[in-house]
Amino acid sequence: MKVCLCNPFNDQSLKDYLNKMEKDNQPVRVKDAYKACSGAEKPNCAKCIPMVREFVEEHNEKVTPLIPVKQVECPQPNPALSPA
Ligand code: FES
Repeated sequence: MKVCLCNPFNDQSLKDYLNKMEKDNQPVRVKDAYKACSGAEKPNCAKCIPMVREFVEEHNEKVTPLIPVKQVECPQPNPALSPA
């Protein structure tokens, strides 16, 4: 499937690039993915950018796991400090 028509590349080129970055566990920026797949060209019409972004976001979710939230107990109010 064609991704970009202005600087032609297809989804396989994008997947190959993202797979390479996944092996290094590296998150990717949309502009870097575009640059790598387009032969260092800049987007022209940018109609393909949402599709590139979709692939990149999926990749980044795989390589950058969410930071676990630590459960913290709230301290109990001190009755000595409460207004009477
Ligand atoms: S379709 Fe990719 S820049 Fe135009």
